[in-house]
Amino acid sequence: MAMSFNESKTRENLMRAFAGESQARNRYTIAAGAAEKQGMYAISQIFLFTADQERAHAERYYELLKKSAGETIKIDGGYPVDHFESVEKLLRAAEHNELEEFDDVYPAFGDIAKEEGFIEEANAFYQIARIEEIHAKRFGKLAELLENNQYYESTDTQDWMCLNCGHIFHGKLVPNVCPVCHYERGYFVPAGLAPYLECGFLNQK
Ligand SMILES: [Fe+2]
Ligand SMILES: [Fe+2]
Repeated sequence: MAMSFNESKTRENLMRAFAGESQARNRYTIAAGAAEKQGMYAISQIFLFTADQERAHAERYYELLKKSAGETIKIDGGYPVDHFESVEKLLRAAEHNELEEFDDVYPAFGDIAKEEGFIEEANAFYQIARIEEIHAKRFGKLAELLENNQYYESTDTQDWMCLNCGHIFHGKLVPNVCPVCHYERGYFVPAGLAPYLECGFLNQK
């Protein structure tokens, strides 16, 4: 028989997850500001895009806490202070936290929920864990490109998209300003990371 929600570890874990997601949302919003200040507008937008998804995760966990409406849930937990100027460092820290959620924290919370008989809650932990894996990979990929000076430059010709006007630049080195809208190069994102891009529109090598 399923244990009562009030006595469960799952109730606490949902609150831990809600706290974690809420903080991730704020950390990414702050990181977006740091990236923007340094002219990395596309990376700033990727942080904001991800921050919005963390809000959605928080909302899902909060929804599952509805059974405890009006109560206060005490939790303990450790939360990171990822206060860095360097955008590479911000991306690596974000990647690290996402991986921890995906690899470790949410699967463990899911297993506990399952053991306690909370299947809907377990599924939320497992499903959101898989999203965090995608977040980790995206942040990791961006960090790697910046660290290797390959974000704006490539040995092979490739495509980048200007996130301001949508221009696809085909070449090896992103120009200092977009040839169409004249916005700074920081608006460009490698086409593989551009949103809503249908592959048929890309230039062929
Ligand atoms: Fe999340
Ligand atoms: Fe995430």
